[in-house]
Parts: sequence; C-alpha cells; structure tokens
Amino acid sequence: MGGMRRDTRCHELRAADVGRTVTLMGWVASRRDHGGIIFVDLRDRDGITQVAFSPDRMAAAHASAHGLRSEFVIAVRGEVCARPAGTVNPRMATGAIELYADELVILNTAETPPFPIEDDCDTAEEVRLRHRYLDLRRRPLQQALILRHHIAQAARRFLDEHGFIEVETPMLTRSTPEGARDYVVPSRVYPGSFYALPQSPQLFKQLLMIAGFDRYFQIARCFRDEDLRADRQPEFTQIDVELSFASQEEIMTLTEGLITAICAPAGHTLAPPFPRLTYDAALARYGTDRPDVRFGLELVDLSDLGAACEFKVFAAAVARGGLVKGICIPGGGSLSRKEIDDLTQFVARYGAKGMAYLKMTATGPTSNIAKFFTAEQLAEIGKRMAATDGDLLVFCADTAHIVNDALAALRCHLGRTRHLYDPQELRFTWVTDFPMFEVGEGGHLSASHHPFTMVHEQELERLETDPGSLRTYAYDLVLNGIEIGGGSLRIHDPQVQLRILAALGFSESQARARFGFLLDALAHGAPPHGGLAFGLDRVAMLLAGRETIRDVIAFPKTQRATCLLTEAPAPIDELQLEELRLLVEKEA
Ligand code: AMO
Ligand code: AMP
Repeated sequence: MGGMRRDTRCHELRAADVGRTVTLMGWVASRRDHGGIIFVDLRDRDGITQVAFSPDRMAAAHASAHGLRSEFVIAVRGEVCARPAGTVNPRMATGAIELYADELVILNTAETPPFPIEDDCDTAEEVRLRHRYLDLRRRPLQQALILRHHIAQAARRFLDEHGFIEVETPMLTRSTPEGARDYVVPSRVYPGSFYALPQSPQLFKQLLMIAGFDRYFQIARCFRDEDLRADRQPEFTQIDVELSFASQEEIMTLTEGLITAICAPAGHTLAPPFPRLTYDAALARYGTDRPDVRFGLELVDLSDLGAACEFKVFAAAVARGGLVKGICIPGGGSLSRKEIDDLTQFVARYGAKGMAYLKMTATGPTSNIAKFFTAEQLAEIGKRMAATDGDLLVFCADTAHIVNDALAALRCHLGRTRHLYDPQELRFTWVTDFPMFEVGEGGHLSASHHPFTMVHEQELERLETDPGSLRTYAYDLVLNGIEIGGGSLRIHDPQVQLRILAALGFSESQARARFGFLLDALAHGAPPHGGLAFGLDRVAMLLAGRETIRDVIAFPKTQRATCLLTEAPAPIDELQLEELRLLVEKEA
C-alpha cells in the first residue's frame, strides 16, 4: 500500500484533530476540480472525509489527483485542517475539517460504475443486483446489513446468557415438512438418491432435546421452494430455538425477552408482555392470522342479519354456509362514487364478487341496498358497527375464506392509504391456539403448522371424528401485520405422533419409512419440549424500515429465484450429469 498504513477511519476526524497528520484509505466518492484545489470525498464503510489536493502544498499529490475517478481506491496522508469559515458542513460528521493531502497512492483504479453509488438510487433493482458489490457500497444497504449483524449478535448474547447452546445441524438431509417444496441435491455415491436441503432444522432440534441438550439455538439457513413475495426468499435465515421442560407460557415469556433484546440495537424499547389473540379471534376480528393491530377498522360479523334480510346476495351467501362481514370506515361517507368503485375493484382481486355499502347520514343510512333492510335491521347494523353520521359501512358476502381475505386486505389498504398509523411504530401481537389441520377438498388434511405440533390433549379424542376442530399449542408472533416467528409445543409421545401422521394420510409403514428416526427417538425418553423460530430476514427488514427482505440480505435472489450476480441456477456440464447418472429431458 505504497508503504502507507491506515491509522484513521473516514468518519472520525473532528475540529479537535486539527493539526494531526493521518492516513486514510477508501474509495473516491466524488472529485471536484475548483481551478487550483482538487477536492475528493473519500468514503469507507464508516463515513466520508473531504480531502483537498493543493498545488501549493504538495504539487506531486495534486498532479496525480487529476487522474482520480469515482470508485478509485486510494491511500492519502495529510494534515487535518479546519475548514474556512462558511464552508463548514454541519450535516457531515467530519464537516468541520478537511484533510490537506501530502501523499497520494492510487491502490486501484475502477471502471465507471453502471450506477452512481449514492444513498438514493433509482436504478432498476435488476441492474443493482447484477453488480451487488457496488450496490452494497451504498450507505443504506451497508447500514441495513450492519443492523442485521447487531440483531444477530443481540440474539446470540441473549440466548447464551439464558443457557442456550448453539448447535449446527445438517444442510444435506432428508425432507423436513414445513409445507413448501424441497430443494434437492443428487447423491453421486447413491445414484438416483437425493438429499433435501432443510426447510428448517425442526426435526434435528427435537432430536437435540431428546439428546438432553435442554436448550438449543441456531442461526440457521433454511431452504424452501415456494412462490416468492417481498417477505419471502428461497433461502432465508431463522433464529431457531428449542427448549425442554418448559410450558407454552414460559416459552412465550422467554421469546418476549429475546425480541426485546433484538429490537434494542434498532433503538426500540419494548414493553412486554405483548397482547394475545387466539387464532379464532384473529380471524373473526381481522380476517387473517397475522393481524396488523396498529389501527382499528375491525371486521364485524353480520351473518345472522344477512340471513334474515331481503338482500338476496347476503341471504344466499349465508344459506350456502358463508359469511357476511363489514367494516366501518370512520369519515368514509365523504368518499366519492369513483373512490367506492375503486375499493370494490380492490376487493375483487381477492375473489369478492361485490362490495355493498351504506352511507351513514343524519337522515339514516343510504345506498342501493338500504331498501332491502328494515329500519330495525339498519339500526342494528349501525349499532354493531359503532357507526355514526359521516361513516361508510362496506360489506362482503361470500365463503368465509373470500370474505376474510378480501376484507383483511381492504382493511390494510385503508389503514395505509388513510394514514391510520405511525409507520415508525412497532406493534407486536401473539396469535395462539392454531388449528392442527387445514381441511381441503374431500376432507383431505394438511398440517397448518407442522405435523410435530402438540394438540390440546383433551381434544385428541376428536382426531378421527372432527379433525378440523382440533386446536394446538402453536403460537405465532406478528409484527405490524407480518408473521415474524412461530412455534409450538411438540408431540413427545410416539403413539400420538403416529396418530397425527395417520390423520395426515401416512400409514404406519409410510410413517416409519419417512420419520422412523424420529419415532424411534421419541421412544427413547423424549422430554416434553417446544420452541419457535424467528425469520431473521423479516425482523431485520422491519427494524431497518425496508419494504423487501432483499435489502437486508447481502446476496438475495430475485422474485424468480435467480441470482443475477452469479447467474445461478445454471446448467451443469455433461460430465457432472454422467457422474450423478442424471439425464436431463431436452425441451422440445
Ligand atoms: P415457520 O415455517 O413458521 O416455522 O418459519 C418460522 C419463521 O421463518 C420465517 N420464514 C421466512 N422468511 C423468509 N422467507 C421465507 N420463505 C420464509 N418462510 C418462513 C417467518 C416464519 O415465522 N420449524 C418451525 C418453527 C418451530 O416450530 O419452531 C418453522 O420453520 O418469519
Ligand atoms: P347488484 O344487485 O349486483 O347490483 O349489487 C348491489 C350491490 O351489492 C353492489 O354495490 C354490489 O357491489 C354489491 N354486491 C354484489 N355482490 C356482493 C357480495 N357478494 N358481497 C357484498 N356485496 C355485493
């Protein structure tokens, strides 16, 4: 490095350092030639320092500064000088000083970057992902990743202090059912056999409890081949936790401590306990199991009134086993016809076939459907929805699924567009008592959390007769309407585990073939245990105030699960395929 040694970082120098000689190293963020003096903003991870090259002070350094371009890597030695009055920049940490260069070494040149390395950058994300190492030079992304680091360290510290042991579990393993498709890896040694990448360390952490580790954690990479969204990546990271001999209550309290520790580096002071809702209450009041509780606009069930009214759409929906639910929009009476039509189109995206409404006015509720209701019915609707003059009441009637989906989405849309909450605020809520199963077509059952979740013991007798009614010791933590973590007490009795697997369609021999290792382990002295996992990426995204988890992942995948930087996935060569004894079907 031209014989120079860095002794100072670019964010450090203040007025008190005037007169010192220091050496900085970093990237040229910008260069301005003011006729005599050349000014360079020098950037490293921590900040920016203005460097001045004056022909009067050091002609050689000044001459080579002419050749500097953006993103060149340089070392400069010089004297810290006070900036002349009027040129002090109070917005910059180092804005009181500038470094007058005595020596400049160009450590490396750089091609012109495909986009400017600036805080605000409107270059397409695709271009930025292709040159991610340049994108990551931008301060907002550096800060997001540094925050993520602090979050991970806070979690490690907290869990270590609470007796948790960090254990790594395999990446090359067998399928772990978390409800997504597996990523698989072919075995060379056993042609035709495949490893699966873990969807989570679920079964291994249970085995560690059986092994007597008592308290385990891992900051674990998980792989799920599923449709991607802003808060989903094919590979992501969990803060994964499991403990023995603890009740659901103890696990939730410990988790609240963990999340409080995690939020501290982002400057948030939390006050647990967090409010709790059962799954059934969350669905009834918010239409979703991940309610955003920063604002009201709760859903109100009017199915009984709908069934009894003259409006065919409502009555028919209830007769078919569906629901009628509504939302009261305070002050919404001033919405124009066009604005109401837009809301109707909004709910249509969620399958709603319409959106009826009532405007509350001094002379009573008005709308195209008011005529189908008696005065008593209208009064009852207004009362249940706590409506007053000037409000707009909107309704959907359909299957429970469509009504809840559509109104939950509409509620969040209204919360956002009508500015009903402070975007900086963090509001946590637990959702508990999830159903064990989702009942699909023809009564087919799938696990709503995972098949290792413990159901309420007293309900087990209904497993074979009314499985849809079974509730579990499962709990999710929701932050601002996003599920950031979830877990459960686990089944520790092999017979119960076999029964649950049977309900999910596994015969005993199929269950033994796939989960034999777990069933065996459960039969060798399994302690009662439970745990949960946080999505580290989602937590970091929310704490960093970002819209997508790609911003808190150094090298993320696109929505189409590709890495634009390395161009993965990519074909492999014939020789590799032969070694693995794989044949790839050629596209026609
Ligand atoms: P679950 O499947 O709920 O539980 O996952 C736990 C948390 O991981 C995060 N998460 C994701 N984050 C980004 N991209 C994804 N594709 C993705 N999928 C999940 C979510 C979620 O809350 N083994 C159980 C945990 C347990 O029971 O202990 C599990 O994996 O924030
Ligand atoms: P129509 O009788 O189809 O003209 O509808 C009268 C009103 O009812 C309109 O405002 C529709 O948007 C609304 N509507 C139609 N279908 C539904 C439904 N399934 N749920 C709620 N409102 C509906």
